[in-house]
Amino acid sequence: MISSLSHTSCLLALFILCSGNYVVAIEIPMGDLSGVPPFNVTQKSLLKFLKLGDTIKFNVPALYVFGDSTVDSGNNNFLISLAKANYTPYGVDFGDGKPTGRYTNGRTEADFIAQIVGLPFPPPYLGLSDTENKTLHTGVNYGSGGCGILSTGQNYLGTCLPFYKQINYFATTINNLEKRFESKKRFDDYLSKSLLFIDIGNIDMSSDYNGVGATIFRKYTVPQYAQMVANEFCKSLERLYKLGARKFLVNNLGAMGCIPTQVQGQMQKTLCVEKTNRPAVEYNKLLSEMLPKVQVSLPGSKIVIGDAYNVLMDAVTFPAQYG
Ligand SMILES: *[C@@H]1O[C@H](CO)[C@@H](O)[C@H](O)[C@H]1NC(C)=O
Ligand SMILES: *[C@@H]1O[C@H](CO)[C@@H](O)[C@H](O)[C@H]1NC(C)=O
Repeated sequence: MISSLSHTSCLLALFILCSGNYVVAIEIPMGDLSGVPPFNVTQKSLLKFLKLGDTIKFNVPALYVFGDSTVDSGNNNFLISLAKANYTPYGVDFGDGKPTGRYTNGRTEADFIAQIVGLPFPPPYLGLSDTENKTLHTGVNYGSGGCGILSTGQNYLGTCLPFYKQINYFATTINNLEKRFESKKRFDDYLSKSLLFIDIGNIDMSSDYNGVGATIFRKYTVPQYAQMVANEFCKSLERLYKLGARKFLVNNLGAMGCIPTQVQGQMQKTLCVEKTNRPAVEYNKLLSEMLPKVQVSLPGSKIVIGDAYNVLMDAVTFPAQYG
């Protein structure tokens, strides 16, 4: 259910470069990299490390993050839930080596994106102080482990923040922030340049569909359910657009069948559990068909898909290339 795998190094391959209204997704061939950049890396040296030089200018005033355990930076620490990453060895490679709530040894994909565009790590929304809640303008993280697009916010592990609730909180954030801008125009400009990074749906298409206590699989086929989840996802993007967001980086679903908890229980050892990967593949197909259409229907928007599935698959298939 909760991936204990470290996404950090493999998903470093996925990121986004933004300059003005332009958004380009770039995949760095990991074979060219050696290890993970140090924690305290500067934007400049990171770009050098990634062989991107200094020709790239970023114009991203804020990074807003939505999703599940792939990006949660500590929101679940504030919820009554068993889905928490607040104990060692989580966080051993993060700052002072203490767990933060991130489901990884180090940084999440969202943290790497923040470093690349030159922003602080977006803090978890539920941990914001009153002042931060009213003034922080570099971005917030709403991600919540174990939650998804059609999630109710209650599961057998406890509570979590489903996508719609994360968007409600985002609405609160920007509502607070708007008052601090001198004009509506300035604020709209800020918001349209801000990057929204979304990694969600992994739970919908795995444990919520066919995991412990799930009943959905009895009602819908995989294609039917994937369509329902994808429809709701696209509606949510429209909602974010109406709130003023324009730039979206959307990760597709990871190869959930390759995470250690899935692979370990097998009778016949394979790299990944095909049955678990299939729903993700089904959903990803829909996503790549639907998102270009959503972009066309939302004037001025730019939606980029990050291919998390294949990055993860590649890392599992060729681990040596990733150190
Ligand atoms: C980053 O950390 C390393 C080792 O912990 C240290 O040698 C280096 O000076 C630090 N760099 C910066 C920019 O703080
Ligand atoms: C942020 O401020 C809003 C009021 O504008 C409040 O409803 C919300 O609970 C606050 N959130 C946090 C995390 O402090």
